[in-house]
Amino acid sequence: MARTYLITGANRGIGLELATFLHARGDRVLGTTRDPAKAQELSAHAAKVLALDVADDASITALEKSLEGESVDVLINNAGVSSTARTLGEVTGDELQRVFRVNSFAPVLVAKAALAALKRGAGKQVLNISSQLGSITNHSGGSSYGYRGSKAALNMLTVCLHHELKGDGFTCVTFHPGWVRTDMGGPNAPLAPAESAASLVKVFDGLKAESSGKFLSFDGSALPW
Ligand SMILES: NC(=O)c1ccc[n+]([C@@H]2O[C@H](COP(=O)([O-])OP(=O)(O)OC[C@H]3O[C@@H](n4cnc5c(N)ncnc54)[C@H](OP(=O)(O)O)[C@@H]3O)[C@@H](O)[C@H]2O)c1
Repeated sequence: MARTYLITGANRGIGLELATFLHARGDRVLGTTRDPAKAQELSAHAAKVLALDVADDASITALEKSLEGESVDVLINNAGVSSTARTLGEVTGDELQRVFRVNSFAPVLVAKAALAALKRGAGKQVLNISSQLGSITNHSGGSSYGYRGSKAALNMLTVCLHHELKGDGFTCVTFHPGWVRTDMGGPNAPLAPAESAASLVKVFDGLKAESSGKFLSFDGSALPW
């Protein structure tokens, strides 16, 4: 049966491919973007294009209002930013706050804003797009304090969501989407956005209650925290 997916950052990259793939197989997509007027490609695949700057509290409140009449089965917190500062010499408080705000705080705040709509839906999935760069165990070099730290925080916050929401039948999972050829991933990444999206959706479809609170790769394998 067709399900309704709310996807943040759906105007380009992995988010747009998820929207395209889900729409093509008959699911209903609510795609968010900072600038709906420029989201022509997304408009072709979304039942609704919703304005959302995930770093702006008023924008998240407006999203909550626009979801008042909606049932959402699956929230995909996909919007993300990379760090411009890589080393201790380059890092600043403003830079860390910018990256943590989008990559860590926003998925929690968007889940809060979408919670009533998610409770009206049957799917009850909160799926956060993290990164293997947020794995503490797998950290073998390189800094990117903001990006790595914010994705590690997102992983912890996903487990917090799992513990709070499992009693209401929710499945909350954090994902590494692979290294993907997007503006963020760059031209040398091995995976096309469409390959990542198709693989992720296959894993989303197979999630069970026991999957909740896990950190999974795009092929469904478990990743170390
Ligand atoms: N590509 C990879 O290899 C890779 C690897 C691991 C994890 N990831 C994760 O996968 C997710 C998608 O990445 P991607 O490669 O598709 O990146 P991308 O091509 O750079 O796209 C990023 C998306 O996030 C949106 N976004 C950024 N800041 C936002 C804000 N304040 N409010 C709303 N939307 C915002 C962008 O919207 P605008 O167009 O308005 O900027 C865009 O839609 C991210 O969470 C990323 O960390 C990617």
